[in-house]
Amino acid sequence: MDMYLTHVCLWTTLLSVVVTWAISHVSNRRKKTTKLTDTTAGQEIRYGGPDVIIVGAGVGGSALAYALAKDGRRVHVIERDMSEPVRMMGEFMQPGGRLMLAKLGLQDCLEEIDAQKSTCLSLYKDGEKAVVPFPVEDNNFPYEPTGRTFHNGRFVQRLRQKASSLPNVRLEEGTVKSLIEEKGVIKGVTYKNSSGEETTAFAPLTVVCKGCFSNLRRSLNNNDAEVMSYQVGYISKNCQLEEPEYLHLVMAKPSFTMMYQLSSTEVRCGLELFPGQIPSIANGDMTNFLRNTMAPQVPPKLRKIFLQGIDEGAQIKVMPTKRMAATLSDKKGAIVLGDAFNMRHPSIASGMMVLLSDILILRRLLQPLEYLGDTNKVSEVIKSFYVIRKPMSATVNTLGTAFSQVLIASTDKAKEAMRQGCYDYLSSGGFGASGLMALLGGMNPRPLSLIYHLFVVTLSATVQLLSPFPSPLGIWHSLRLFGLSMKLLVPHLKAEGISQMLFPAYAAVYRKTYMTATTI
Ligand SMILES: Cc1cc2nc3c(=O)[nH]c(=O)nc-3n(C[C@H](O)[C@H](O)[C@H](O)COP(=O)(O)OP(=O)(O)OC[C@H]3O[C@@H](n4cnc5c(N)ncnc54)[C@H](O)[C@@H]3O)c2cc1C
Ligand SMILES: *[C@@H]1O[C@H](CO)[C@@H](O)[C@H](O)[C@H]1NC(C)=O
Repeated sequence: MDMYLTHVCLWTTLLSVVVTWAISHVSNRRKKTTKLTDTTAGQEIRYGGPDVIIVGAGVGGSALAYALAKDGRRVHVIERDMSEPVRMMGEFMQPGGRLMLAKLGLQDCLEEIDAQKSTCLSLYKDGEKAVVPFPVEDNNFPYEPTGRTFHNGRFVQRLRQKASSLPNVRLEEGTVKSLIEEKGVIKGVTYKNSSGEETTAFAPLTVVCKGCFSNLRRSLNNNDAEVMSYQVGYISKNCQLEEPEYLHLVMAKPSFTMMYQLSSTEVRCGLELFPGQIPSIANGDMTNFLRNTMAPQVPPKLRKIFLQGIDEGAQIKVMPTKRMAATLSDKKGAIVLGDAFNMRHPSIASGMMVLLSDILILRRLLQPLEYLGDTNKVSEVIKSFYVIRKPMSATVNTLGTAFSQVLIASTDKAKEAMRQGCYDYLSSGGFGASGLMALLGGMNPRPLSLIYHLFVVTLSATVQLLSPFPSPLGIWHSLRLFGLSMKLLVPHLKAEGISQMLFPAYAAVYRKTYMTATTI
């Protein structure tokens, strides 16, 4: 009962704080200039060719091709490189992402690729360890609550096979050069085909799903990706972690280091570094840095495997970490999806989950349309899509910022208190920890729940700063701490939309439509 009362009080305080802020600060929200509806009738030109062109057969393009083809559409997918991608991204699928995959009928793509099961997050800070499982008894989550780690390229190849197994999918190797536009409507693409010749393809709808290095999106929407940091990583081969089902996350300096079992015989080692402090790989500075600065911070039980890859000369990769808010395009006849549309910090490993959720939503919204060339109807679909995706995308995007900021070590007392507060919160177990893990796992995509947890972590960190007794300096730091946590939240409230973030109805509808077990 006490617990219940505390929660009611926390919720009330939290809501009043957030609502007050929302009313006072967001009155000048940027009005969308995008014109979404057109009064003229939709175009009724029909082509003999495909119903939809998909640019890129990565995670998103392949899954979308499969989903749309299952609904009877003729799909033409153009992919630059059909060979198995070798890359350091998209190696972890959250439990929520697996549910989405199952809903799309693609769950078998995680089989036969030597994927490894993950049940827990194992956190390390200052010699301490906390193991936090994905909540097993979450009655609201209708799927097995575990994640999977795997080689991204193997997963992508499975998705491509699955899509091209359908007779109405044409998967062609070719590099798309530009979009063909007539009077503000995208009609198709120009591309270089496998014989190196420039050619064209036309369809009533074009979906751009060409990943994080996309430049075609610039002709569709003008948002720019912001590089926040770099992920550095390599693979230690022929080894197995003592706890292969744990995702090991070390709260190190300057930021996190992580290790997980990538396949039955390989371990991914990775860490985050910031612009201006990346040691050169070519002259060996990076190896020295990993060996002398990072390895000593890795817990002794994991250190041998961390060092093994470095000692054996594993290839070290560096990937930029980007963030990009989703924006609507005013061009008709085209949709942008995946990393070309919306990106968040990879520390929460959720890009593929949001993308699969987006595909599920879009597929459902497009189902009633007989003809995808009706630009007005498609515009309406895109507009709804943009709102319906919010519970999942806004939760994950905000969590990405908050979690990644909290993981950065700092000499600032307020920031450090927040970092410690987060560790304490997760390590204390119980309601708080499992709630936060459900959020991380995409098992409970509710922005309000995220705001609640952020608020409680802030509150308990404040209590720490003010104990044993509130000194003036302590009070000053706690005020700054509160400011910090608002800073984590406010830009997202603005970018994602106040009502979408704060009204629980959106999340309830999302859950009811996309997260129930019925259609698996
Ligand atoms: C370091 C890092 C780690 C990450 N870790 C995770 C994680 O653990 N879990 C997770 O869920 N997400 C993770 N993500 C995010 C995730 O990888 C992406 O969200 C996801 O891969 C996006 O899929 P996509 O289909 O948009 O792009 P991609 O999967 O990159 O596919 C794009 C495809 O388009 C093709 N293409 C590009 N240009 C052209 C062209 N001109 N013509 C034709 N084809 C073209 C490419 O060859 C590629 O096959 C991570 C991201 C980063 C940066
Ligand atoms: C490439 O395009 C050219 C011109 O349209 C065409 O003649 C050729 O057959 C195409 N090659 C392949 C492999 O499709």
